Amino acid sequence: MKNKTQYSCQSCGFNSTKWLGRCPECSSWNSMVEEKVINTKDASIAAVRDSFHIPGRTAAGVIRLGDENKNLVGGASNRSLTHSKELDRVLGGGMVPDGFVLIGGDPGIGKSTLLLQVADGFTQANPDKKILYVSGEESLEQIQARAKRLKIKNSDSIFLAAETQLEKVFSLVKDSEPSLLIMDSLQTFSTGFIDSAPGTVSQVREVTSRLMNLAKSARIAVWLVGHVTKDGAIAGPKIVEHLVDTVLYFEGESGQTLRLLRTVKNRFGNTNELGVFEMTSDGLVDVLNPSSLFLSERTQDVMGTAIVATIDGSRPLLVELQALCVPSPYGTPRRTSVGLDSQKLALLTAVLEKHAEAGLLNQDLFFNVAGGLKLSEPACDLASMAAIFSAIIERPIPSSTVFLGEVGLTGEVRKVSQIELRIDEAKKLGFKEVILPHSQMDRAKKTKGIALVGIQHVRELGSLIK
Ligand code: TYD
Ligand code: MG
Repeated sequence: MKNKTQYSCQSCGFNSTKWLGRCPECSSWNSMVEEKVINTKDASIAAVRDSFHIPGRTAAGVIRLGDENKNLVGGASNRSLTHSKELDRVLGGGMVPDGFVLIGGDPGIGKSTLLLQVADGFTQANPDKKILYVSGEESLEQIQARAKRLKIKNSDSIFLAAETQLEKVFSLVKDSEPSLLIMDSLQTFSTGFIDSAPGTVSQVREVTSRLMNLAKSARIAVWLVGHVTKDGAIAGPKIVEHLVDTVLYFEGESGQTLRLLRTVKNRFGNTNELGVFEMTSDGLVDVLNPSSLFLSERTQDVMGTAIVATIDGSRPLLVELQALCVPSPYGTPRRTSVGLDSQKLALLTAVLEKHAEAGLLNQDLFFNVAGGLKLSEPACDLASMAAIFSAIIERPIPSSTVFLGEVGLTGEVRKVSQIELRIDEAKKLGFKEVILPHSQMDRAKKTKGIALVGIQHVRELGSLIK
């Protein structure tokens, strides 16, 4: 039989029978690579052959939803903690024994460091269980050197292997029967069933689905690293997100020590959960009071900044929003934003212009969220507008004031979710006053010890910022 080939976009996985300069699906240029079509029949036979049956861990056949299954080692009820409060919260309360986790992030952000620390935390919580750490990128000596730097304690139950062939990894798993398998990184592994190079869409998909099969049939927790790639030459973690249980993204600005671990998908917990870490010379350390990082330190009131209590996942965070207005040299003023969607910024400035007569039409506007955070919550609308308004009228907002509220197109200030939680956090951090939707004043009054001011419409901003 003649082998068929197809062209796959390496950034979104779109397939075409002929080469195209630009992917019609995701619009990336030069991302189509010729790949052999996988014979799915062979691949599924391989998947069955790779099913693992480790005694005592075998999955039951059919059970009733309500049945208690004594064999069930996996499942969300048997979680183990990782010794990092931030990581446990991001995972929805610890590690799930047969969970398949994908960690995406830019090269050099600290994924390998995090995973070695995960391994350390896991062995401390489960001293009798084994871990297999397979690296396709680094030599064994490099991993050992990193482990030494991180002062990994229980190093006897962590096994290392430098391997890129998936079938060889599977035989290592059969021999060592680990409870946790760490694969660093997805783009370096390849299976002999497919001809294309490691890192291509078909390899990445096949490797991930076979690992999924391994996690579920042998009840092994699998953690997989995926590099986020900008040039599209190798396939990124986006292509396999649907296959895994949990998708975490590790982010941070290069040159800064702050690292954010974000849950994008989680079958065992909340999404949009945020873990905050600091990269130190001894590895990653939990940041227990992250609000302090997103508030710039200042003693004086300055114009163009406003504080909001946003909720990321389950935790309130106080964040500083900054705006700068300068007269525009061009006919069309510029709107530049970091951390807030530019469409959203355009919408907020239009509402401000129409309903609060802000005078933004001949001003360039620059907007920034302090600490590199990305805001997507509507509850930040009022604070963003207050920062812009303060910048344009050149009057400061007291640094002890917090703004809460969603703003509609007609300029009305609308309710936000979990208002008590936000106000409590503001109070804890020493803020003196909260400006909040008038309709929520009654609910908010339960919190004592902080001044509350209700606002109904954005036109009232002028009288509030004096
Ligand atoms: P690494 O985990 O290798 O990143 P990735 O696997 O995502 O490519 O981490 C790379 C950076 O982290 C490297 O520039 C050095 C820094 N680092 C520290 O600052 N402290 C440490 O303890 C370790 C192990 C690394
Ligand atoms: Mg690495």
